Amino acid sequence: MPSFILAIDQGTTSTRAILFNEALDVVAIAQKEFPQHFPQPGWVEHDPEDLWATTVATVNEVLARANTRASQVAALGITNQRETTVVWNRKTGRAIHNAIVWQDRRTAERCARLKADGIEPLVSERTGLIVDSYFSGTKIAWILDKVDGARAAAERGELAFGTVDSFLLWRLTNGKVHATDATNASRSMIYDIGKGAFDPELMKIVGVPEAVLPEVKDSSGDFGTTEAHLFGAPIRICGIAGDQQAAVVGQACFEPGMMKVTYGTGAFALLNIGDSPVLSQNRLLTTVAYQLNGKRTYALEGAIFVAGAAVQWLRDGLGIIKHASETQGLAEAADPNQPVYLVPAFVGLGAPYWDADARGTLTGITRGTGRAEIARAALESVGYQTNDLTEAMRADWPEARETVLRVDGGMVASNWAMQFLADILGAPVDRPVITETTALGAAYLAAYAAGVCPPPEEFGRAWKLDRRFEPRKMDGDREKKLAGWRDAVQRTRSSTG
Ligand code: G3P
Repeated sequence: MPSFILAIDQGTTSTRAILFNEALDVVAIAQKEFPQHFPQPGWVEHDPEDLWATTVATVNEVLARANTRASQVAALGITNQRETTVVWNRKTGRAIHNAIVWQDRRTAERCARLKADGIEPLVSERTGLIVDSYFSGTKIAWILDKVDGARAAAERGELAFGTVDSFLLWRLTNGKVHATDATNASRSMIYDIGKGAFDPELMKIVGVPEAVLPEVKDSSGDFGTTEAHLFGAPIRICGIAGDQQAAVVGQACFEPGMMKVTYGTGAFALLNIGDSPVLSQNRLLTTVAYQLNGKRTYALEGAIFVAGAAVQWLRDGLGIIKHASETQGLAEAADPNQPVYLVPAFVGLGAPYWDADARGTLTGITRGTGRAEIARAALESVGYQTNDLTEAMRADWPEARETVLRVDGGMVASNWAMQFLADILGAPVDRPVITETTALGAAYLAAYAAGVCPPPEEFGRAWKLDRRFEPRKMDGDREKKLAGWRDAVQRTRSSTG
């Protein structure tokens, strides 16, 4: 009986393949980085062949590492960097342009024009998003307009669009399946999240012909089978979800009011708001958290662009630490009487400010400020930014008062940062035993469809707490600290934001 579950986690900087056993314990991991391309300032591309090659290589490597054959794998789940856009030729399977990565700002002007035309209210109402070059819609239109003959070929049905999940699925099934799941579709700016379908009016406004679009399916279900020659035997593909949504599943945030934050280079907070989409009044996004058995569950989402990257900057930019783990000791040693704030708006500010032109600031420095205070400010900036998001979430969705916050990603290893987070939020922060939550979510979605794992409620009961960080009493201190942060953010804002 095949019993292993495989997850492919195709991320922004690397591709990983993770093999799980039936109990969803990690058995083996393989990882490969690939080059980033920056053809112009603000542009970010990936070569789709790199995404494909690293996928095939890591899957074969993880199977070899675990001494496992493909025939022993019951199901495969795919999770991916979201919004990143690929357009390929249906006949050859070859992309007609490099993948345009989610961070890429080349369609910012186009988005500004759409906003000036008054399109944003319609976009928000139907898609839950704002008008921004972050999403895939305007990236598709850009490729169709800039590659010679592409738009006409697309209208003739010769081209296919997909986010990375969809492109990999096409390749894995040798062109037999052109599909995606509802979480990825919900990041396109042309998908009606209430109806669960691409919206013809928005497709026309953004410039995306229907003929290029994938079929949109449940996040857990039948997505076809991998070609036998790729891994030695066919593997059933049974789950797909965007990486942040897969983490919601991996963190078992299945009840309204449960929230997860993944701290990577940036950080993404998603709050489960149940089965009806609530539109944000505070510039958060409303998105599909997962779709199971035809039923969509929604989330409010907030993105912070710089979280772990602030610590990287201490190491690689300022050179004041050699290793990320040093920040803990430095923060403990920092002078409590020096209110130093770092607003790491290195690439603008994300939610709830969406100020692309803001740039970072360090405030409150005196002659006595040293690396300890700056390191503490970097860790604290992650807590303050998370608090900005949770405040916006509470304003949008009053039930968010009683939230459970589950954290994952590299930064959660820092007890100091997690304790500060709990203190500043004034709410407990839960760190799970398994912090490979994105891959775990993809594996679970696949395992559920394959009948290897139980329904969500039961899977949720198996979620294990490593440590709960209880908020400590800060008395007036919390308000004082938050006021200092708000003041620092204010100094960071641009005139356009
Ligand atoms: O929306 C972008 C997000 O999905 C990227 O995630 O982990 O690949 O940086 P990551």
